[in-house]
Amino acid sequence: ASAPLFTTALPVPPVLTPLSTAGGKDTYALTLRRARTEILPGISTEVLTYNGHFPGPTIKARSGRPVVVHHRNALEDHASVHLHGASVAPTDDGAPMDTFAPGTSRTYTYPNRQPHAPLWYHDHAHHHESEHVYRGLSGSYLLTDDTEQALPLPAGSYDIPIALRDARLDERGRLVYEMDDALGRTTLLANGKPYPYLQVAARKYRFRLLNSSNLRFFHLRLADGGPITQIGSDGGLLPAPATLDSLWLSPAERADIVIDFSRYPVGTRLVLENTLGPGSPEQVGQVLRFDIVRTAPDPSSVPAVLRTLPPLPTATVERSFELRMTDESGAPGAQGLVNGRVFDHDRIDTRIRHGASEIWTVTNPNTLVPHNFHLHLVQFRVLARNGQAPDPSESGLKDTVRLLPGETVRLQATFDTYRGTYVYHCHLLDHSAMGMMAQMRIS
Ligand code: C2O
Ligand code: CU
Repeated sequence: ASAPLFTTALPVPPVLTPLSTAGGKDTYALTLRRARTEILPGISTEVLTYNGHFPGPTIKARSGRPVVVHHRNALEDHASVHLHGASVAPTDDGAPMDTFAPGTSRTYTYPNRQPHAPLWYHDHAHHHESEHVYRGLSGSYLLTDDTEQALPLPAGSYDIPIALRDARLDERGRLVYEMDDALGRTTLLANGKPYPYLQVAARKYRFRLLNSSNLRFFHLRLADGGPITQIGSDGGLLPAPATLDSLWLSPAERADIVIDFSRYPVGTRLVLENTLGPGSPEQVGQVLRFDIVRTAPDPSSVPAVLRTLPPLPTATVERSFELRMTDESGAPGAQGLVNGRVFDHDRIDTRIRHGASEIWTVTNPNTLVPHNFHLHLVQFRVLARNGQAPDPSESGLKDTVRLLPGETVRLQATFDTYRGTYVYHCHLLDHSAMGMMAQMRIS
């Protein structure tokens, strides 16, 4: 079914209220359950949710203050909840095989011993993660700290999380899930609604963009080609703001941006466009529309220096990784490979000495299929993309990096926090479900 453009307001997912704030930590409860929601106007669609919300509620956390989340699984499938981008103990990481059964509960503890970052939580149960996330099991987890709070950036109702994704809806409005269905998912959703509008004031806004798609890459721009100021990425603020005319976002990547609508007269309607397929420009060329409807005072500003990143330690180990499919044309039964091997949870692929800083060179040798690369546990730095210094938008802390066909990325990660076994994988979730995932053990 096709969705009309710009007839629904962009919703903002509710911020989850803690059950308790006692004991120096915030305790939350979430139930994983089926629910119905209105994606297409007037049509009810069955989705999978945390607490009935599509996407899930936003958790707000502060560095140094632990969060405990009790999850109750009221689904028919095993589940596992991963806090993407977080530094947590292996038992709290929501590993692919570390699932909890229907009818049971599981408690995850997040120490938040890391700087501010726009994290997100999502299902990670092996072979189910792709369909679970597609049907709705994801939400934002915004971790802040004193460094971020001290800045005069747009705040409060001028700071809005926007999760972008695609979906395939049939003629009755049902979400259709088929593995590796990149071509079929041509309805774009922002915070769960197709092609919404957002009424804004003629001032600066901060948007926390997340690509929560399973397969789709976005390349975003404003319809008038106007500037977008990127202030942050996966691991929080960039060292300095970057003025861009377009922005890449592969699955699981985040971009923290500021748009200054004061340069537009009240009455302007400004479309956020996507210049990439699959899908025709009519289907996927427009994402949402900003309607500038009023003026407002604007005490916010974007400082020229946002944060100081610690210097990179000396790397002592270099490794290479290659991402491939057994069949590039995506024939049924294709498997995903990291360095020629399909994921095996009984195998440790990479052994890392605790405290080491390592350089990983990751290549996508395919000519057709894009991938990306995500490491659990760490925020890394991009050293080079195809032999060139990274763009400013990749100059901060990252946990996921895009790899278009033929691309090579060099990154540096330091493993000085937890010990134990964690996965790394392509975050095109259909690919990780097909085995494009491997394990590292830090000891
Ligand atoms: Cu979003 Cu294994 O991660
Ligand atoms: Cu992939």
